[in-house]
Amino acid sequence: MNAPAAPRYTRISGTGSHLPPRRVGNDELVRLLAARGVETSDAWITERTGIRARHFAADGVNASDLALHACRHALEAAGRRADEIDLIVVATSTPDMVFPATASILQAKLGVHGCPAFDLQAVCSGFVYALTVADAMIRTGGATRALVVGAEVFSRILDFDDRTTCVLFGDGAGAVVLEASDAPGILATDLHADGRHVGILCVPGTVGGGKVLGDPLLRMDGQAVFKLAVGVLEETARTVLAKAARSEADVDWLIPHQANIRIMHSTVRKLRLPPERLVVTVDEHGNTSAASVPLALDTAVRDGRIRRGDTVLLEGVGGGFTWGSVLLDL
Ligand code: ACO
Repeated sequence: MNAPAAPRYTRISGTGSHLPPRRVGNDELVRLLAARGVETSDAWITERTGIRARHFAADGVNASDLALHACRHALEAAGRRADEIDLIVVATSTPDMVFPATASILQAKLGVHGCPAFDLQAVCSGFVYALTVADAMIRTGGATRALVVGAEVFSRILDFDDRTTCVLFGDGAGAVVLEASDAPGILATDLHADGRHVGILCVPGTVGGGKVLGDPLLRMDGQAVFKLAVGVLEETARTVLAKAARSEADVDWLIPHQANIRIMHSTVRKLRLPPERLVVTVDEHGNTSAASVPLALDTAVRDGRIRRGDTVLLEGVGGGFTWGSVLLDL
């Protein structure tokens, strides 16, 4: 009789990120909006959201371009070449084309071919969803070394005449190399969706008959999203910790989706975590949707806060309505 196979886990072996060079501070955005007759202020944006700046991609720069830079940094950090990757998953709600997948375009830009490459659409929960799917594929033997990416150009779907949304979002990409491992790695994952709330955060338009049909810009009921987000972020954090038989005290770093500093502070308070364990990048990045969690992870790894062996709780929440979390030892 064969000995039972040793359990297979996954671990992150490298992180990377990329922001397009154009940084738009609140004051510049206030001036740009004023020129369109839209009134806002640095004080309102900072107090209500914690956002001081965001980055916008230049015309012609797509999600796959931002993803490419992030992936190169992640591969370098992992000490891997692109041709050693056997799975590419890109979380994005702002793909380069209707089809094929941004992941296929990214694969070509990385100069490799053959491995499976697909996009995953769960809006701001996209990275946490993509990490969960890649983790499952690696643990069950379907892949051994994956690039998991969040990449967005939300500036393309913003209505710059709607001050309740256009001040919130930015562009960017973050990536990790996820590898099969004898030891975890990813300790537990927890994903959810509730399609009853499709309408509170959406881009309702589509393409048909050679035209854009309906409204192709982001629409959000901010207060409804806020209320749901604070509840589910606490719930999924507790669930994923219970699944891993860990407690709040074991969390070295909390990286929630970077949408609004008030939502993030509320989550820290509810989980009774020391505020210094919260990683914050929303101030400089704005809300970059699926890119926000890997961008924040890479920022804190590169500035030396998050170290190998630390326990990190990643949380996503966004359109769908979707939410979830991944608990991992780096
Ligand atoms: N500048 C100045 N005033 C503004 C602006 C602005 N940019 N935007 C709104 N206001 C005004 C409103 O018109 C309103 O004025 P009134 O009182 O005269 O009617 C007032 O400010 C308050 O508006 P509220 O909507 O009540 O503001 P709130 O405190 O709820 O903050 C916000 C709005 C920041 C959008 C908040 O609700 C929020 O963060 N929601 C959650 C967003 C989120 O988490 N998204 C995550 C998912 S993203 C994804 O999945 C793509």
